[in-house]
Amino acid sequence: MNNILPIGTLLRDRYKIIDLLSNHTGFGITYKIKDANHPNQPIRILKQLKKPTASKLDIENLPIQQQEEILNQYWQEYLRLFRIETQALGKLGEEHKQIPTIYERFEEGGEEFYVQEYIAGHSLSQEVRQNKKISEQKTINLLIEILEVFEYIQNNPDYSIIHRDIKPDNIIRRSSDNKLVVIDFGLAKEVTVPGTKIGSILGGTKGYIAPEILLRIVSFASDIYSIGMIGVFAITGEDPSYTPLLAENWQTKASVSPEFAAVLNKMICEDYQKRFQNAKAALQALTGNQPSPPPPFPWKLILGTISGIILIIGVVMAVISILPKSNNQLIADGKAKSGQLTSSDQKELSSDKTYDVYTFKSDKRQYLTVQIISNDFQPQLTILKPDDKYFNPVPNVGIKDNDFTASIILEPGTYQFKITSTEAASGNYVIKAWVTDK
Ligand SMILES: Nc1ncnc2c1ncn2[C@@H]1O[C@H](COP(=O)(O)OP(=O)(O)O)[C@@H](O)[C@H]1O
Ligand SMILES: [Mg+2]
Repeated sequence: MNNILPIGTLLRDRYKIIDLLSNHTGFGITYKIKDANHPNQPIRILKQLKKPTASKLDIENLPIQQQEEILNQYWQEYLRLFRIETQALGKLGEEHKQIPTIYERFEEGGEEFYVQEYIAGHSLSQEVRQNKKISEQKTINLLIEILEVFEYIQNNPDYSIIHRDIKPDNIIRRSSDNKLVVIDFGLAKEVTVPGTKIGSILGGTKGYIAPEILLRIVSFASDIYSIGMIGVFAITGEDPSYTPLLAENWQTKASVSPEFAAVLNKMICEDYQKRFQNAKAALQALTGNQPSPPPPFPWKLILGTISGIILIIGVVMAVISILPKSNNQLIADGKAKSGQLTSSDQKELSSDKTYDVYTFKSDKRQYLTVQIISNDFQPQLTILKPDDKYFNPVPNVGIKDNDFTASIILEPGTYQFKITSTEAASGNYVIKAWVTDK
């Protein structure tokens, strides 16, 4: 467990804790400190990394000794990634005034800390507030301001930095120059070690987090989604973290020009591949600048992104096992469609089973019935509900072994269904789905 340091504590013989700013997220404890060594005794921010707990990693049921081993392994991996990322962020902070400078990282008393520039100003959450509708032009200006910082961040050639938790709370309007400064970068949020369930620690904030992050797909487009949701908040006066379905029905709550609505919708498109892929593209659309002749295929950026993601994720293999193999839509029209599980398909890591994934978007509360028939294997179905992190089994209500039928009540939202065979077999199947009102 972490010790929360009491006010007055002196670290490294120079940093005096003067306030505890936050201890509510899974990743760190934030303090306001004074650098007593410096002639002007400036205020700084100190972040203390939070150690994982058995409950956070979902390993409470294991024997204590095994828990300790996993926790230790996790912490080591976390520190390793964290140090790489602090370095990258530190470099960025030195170059760009709208990202806090990192002064140093150190260990003391078995805890890991880093010291950051303090930004005097007010939180963007004081400007973008519940029940306060901001005009279209002001919202556009705000989005441009935020996107310009991210355009710079995303243009970093050595290392992809993806924030993962952009929201008004994590943006400060600096008093000295009235510019926005982005804080609380999502460092080392993708640690994976054997023995923990994938997705034990996620981060991000409901309403702002891009849907694909729940499937461990993370890219610049995930940050575009969150920025888009700040725009939706500004224009509707409704906080996405308290308003379910705002991403889908925001247009009923605000009147905006069709052009701006189209840009905003493209920023928050549920399918990350159809979103603006980076801040630059979103900026061009917002400022009305036509993109200059189509740029050459951005290999460099893509390679940069990929290598960054690999670094952040650490153990990419574990991730692959939960990525949908293809983007099949489940069409609930009661018509039979054929599918195939082949031995060359991607396999689940734990069971070596091949699988197919189908996505179904439910627009209301309703019953969905799914029937899978196969002469080659005994079908099995698992479901990933909109707020869940894991696939869970769907019980069969059919009678015959190879005729799998299940009925499920769905709420509005996007569901994923995974078809496997009970005994790691492969073969052809037929899938049919239909809905009935609840
Ligand atoms: N560099 C900074 N300058 C000024 N205030 C900061 C800075 N970093 C954090 N804070 C303040 O502390 C709060 C919590 O810090 P943050 O980094 O966002 O951590 P958390 O993960 O707890 O949200 C912020 O919402 C902000 O009010
Ligand atoms: Mg924060």
